[in-house]
Amino acid sequence: MKIVKTIAEMRFIRASLPEPLGFVPTLGYLHEGHLSLVRQARTDNASVVVSIFVNPTQFTPSDDLDRYPRDLEGDISLLCKEGVDAVFAPSVDEMYPPRFDSRVEVDKLTRRLEGASRPGHFAGVTMVVAKLFNIVQPARAYFGQKDAQQAIVIKKMVADLNMNLEVITLPTVRQQDGLAMSSRNSYLSADERQAALVLYRALMLEQGLWSQGDKDAEKLRNEMVKLIGKEPLATIDYISITDNETLEELKEVRPPALVSLAVKIG
Ligand code: PAJ
Repeated sequence: MKIVKTIAEMRFIRASLPEPLGFVPTLGYLHEGHLSLVRQARTDNASVVVSIFVNPTQFTPSDDLDRYPRDLEGDISLLCKEGVDAVFAPSVDEMYPPRFDSRVEVDKLTRRLEGASRPGHFAGVTMVVAKLFNIVQPARAYFGQKDAQQAIVIKKMVADLNMNLEVITLPTVRQQDGLAMSSRNSYLSADERQAALVLYRALMLEQGLWSQGDKDAEKLRNEMVKLIGKEPLATIDYISITDNETLEELKEVRPPALVSLAVKIG
């Protein structure tokens, strides 16, 4: 497995990798969620590239850029076992040299949900992912449903800008008790980790009520608010039930719908 630090070297190595090439972009500090994407990429493609880059432009001022967890050595040894061909781990200067002056943005979709709570976040994501796609030139790129809006926004960028690749979204990998795997779970104390299970319980409650015939979005949202309200360490940022493509709020919940929530714990 090659560890690649520069764009020039990535382009050089990429030229000799067999087609089709599968690509998994990450911020690193890898866990089973990331690895599920890598394994699918390995199954679907003749070669696989993973990027590890803590992209500063997608962190808003109130985010956690400085303390975002990092473990490049550990990540490399995990990826080696998955049969990855190359890991692209550039520096910030390599990706954003002085006088960098461009933007790649998806408009309406990014004003909703996470975009409303973290203005500027998705502009940073689309910019770095567009650059990574140009550098790595994959036939397929893999994203997790855990960051549902991110996957939808990337699909829209690829369609609008006629990027020549397929975007594949894969299910959220959870721990046995239901907590979605996330690099940021390492911030949680034992009590907070326990409290964080309320997110999954809220999603399951909603799914249960919906399958029993409750289709009214307002009512379903209220039930989730009530459940999360019982958890003292949890503060709701938003709970939303939207169309899975436009991200417009639904009144009546019909597929393809997306239930998503952001809740602060601790
Ligand atoms: P990161 O948070 O490292 O996630 C990389 C990819 O792994 C994303 O597509 C994310 O949705 C997926 N992922 C994370 N946890 C998962 C889980 N529990 N189950 C399934 N998939 C999971 O998302 C980013 O990085 C960045 O925004 C990036 C796309 C790399 C751009 O900088």
